[in-house]
Amino acid sequence: MRRKLIAGNWKMYKSLGDVGAYVKEVHKKMHDVAGAELLVFCQAALLPELKKEWFSLTGGAPAGLGFGPQNIHWEEKGAFTGELSPALARELGCTYALAGHSERRQFFGETNESAAMRALAAHKFGMRAVFCVGEPLEVRDAGKTFDLIRAQCAPLFKMAAAAPEGFCFAYEPVWAIGTGRTATSAQAQEVHAFLRSEIEKAWGPQAAAAVRILYGGSVKPDNAHELMSQKDVDGVLVGGASLEATSFLAIAAASK
Ligand code: PGA
Repeated sequence: MRRKLIAGNWKMYKSLGDVGAYVKEVHKKMHDVAGAELLVFCQAALLPELKKEWFSLTGGAPAGLGFGPQNIHWEEKGAFTGELSPALARELGCTYALAGHSERRQFFGETNESAAMRALAAHKFGMRAVFCVGEPLEVRDAGKTFDLIRAQCAPLFKMAAAAPEGFCFAYEPVWAIGTGRTATSAQAQEVHAFLRSEIEKAWGPQAAAAVRILYGGSVKPDNAHELMSQKDVDGVLVGGASLEATSFLAIAAASK
């Protein structure tokens, strides 16, 4: 049984002053989220605030809400201006790191190789990766979605002979991100099942059964349940609708 993972992606939104009220709301309602695991990916500069505010509510216990950066480098340290060290992310209390988000691929030159290196660095430094894949519309229209996803995963499977403990994927069709246009639950399930079969080929049946695959792209409280009731959809990665704690929590509550 794979526990549902509800991950918010705040992208380049929110300032220090927004964090306190958000986590208070999450803390108040977190018993109402159907046993789902909650996680927020935010700008690196917000991480210490998120940790401070959350720990002040839980008495220093990390349980209940995980947090992590939207990007990490693969080296512990070095001359890599503008990057975030995975060791520093861990030091900040992060338990997850996002890798290979389509906006990193589209605007910042992220490749299948560099995304894989970032994802594996998360595990090397004691965190878990959420590794994103997904096709642009022209690839879907050309009937090449599976080919692209296979290519997006190839370097990862080449670099890691076995599944790192707790590794997660997120399937995010690019045409569904921030567009209001969600994949149908059948479209999502079809790609998730394909991805799980690729995981099985690379990492074996046990890993395929354990690895969680999230869906992302215009997830909202009113479509979350339908998506997450698909056999291979183990949670969601939520951008816009995660910015308000109430809709983030409503999505989590819809996971049952
Ligand atoms: P969206 O973003 O929910 O706003 O479509 C999803 C994502 O980019 O992770």
